[in-house]
Amino acid sequence: MTDSTNRDRSARTARPAGEGQTEHEGSRRGSLDDIRETYAEQASTMARLRRLDRLLVGRYRRRLFGRATGRVLDVACGTGTNAEYVPETAEYVGVDVSPEMLREADAELRRLGRGGTLAEMDAQSLAVRDDSFETVISSLSTCTFPDPLAALGEMNRVCEPDGQVLLLEHGRSSVELLGRLQDWRADAHFEKHRCRWNQNPLALVSQSDLALRESSTKLLGVITAIRAEPG
Ligand SMILES: C[S@@+](CC[C@H](N)C(=O)[O-])C[C@H]1O[C@@H](n2cnc3c(N)ncnc32)[C@H](O)[C@@H]1O
Repeated sequence: MTDSTNRDRSARTARPAGEGQTEHEGSRRGSLDDIRETYAEQASTMARLRRLDRLLVGRYRRRLFGRATGRVLDVACGTGTNAEYVPETAEYVGVDVSPEMLREADAELRRLGRGGTLAEMDAQSLAVRDDSFETVISSLSTCTFPDPLAALGEMNRVCEPDGQVLLLEHGRSSVELLGRLQDWRADAHFEKHRCRWNQNPLALVSQSDLALRESSTKLLGVITAIRAEPG
């Protein structure tokens, strides 16, 4: 899985800091150390909240990630929540930058009784060969990546040309009052969770090299399911 040889496809996505953000997001970017620290504290809580996640987001995860086939790379897999929704016939590989989250993901794979591989890795420079996964999935993650366009560029690079990239992202609500509340609390939320919760995931994907194929937005306009193909 390691030794990335050809970085041409990801190099195309390198952009100056701040680019790729919407007017609402400002320039909030954590460092990888900030992210590791935050998720070290939150890993066990996030694993405990899986039942709530299943209730709120489970059906969207199932609908989208149930379409994953072949070798599947889950970028920023966190506590391994998506493993439950990826078909058993697929080969699951999860990567994340947080060792504590990966420890929870390992426990989740064992609980589910499914095989899989986990590795500590930065989504913005994946130690994965070009075109090596039939499906790349990621959820609730672009809001935390310091450089989300670099991470989308890497997903584009490691996905087979005929493969698919499935993203389940949250963003600024289309319900204006809720959206404004998110804007108002954006700094405080970022401080606590390293998460830009008023981002616009569709705008982000449209600025990346990925080719957007389908999208649908649910749950008060907060959750967006995206199917894209490598561009
Ligand atoms: C809100 S959690 C989502 C986890 C999981 N995908 C889910 O849907 O439950 C965000 C995850 O992104 C990971 N993350 C943030 N920046 C990352 C990076 N640059 N590379 C890899 N993982 C990263 C965090 O460690 C955390 O596990």
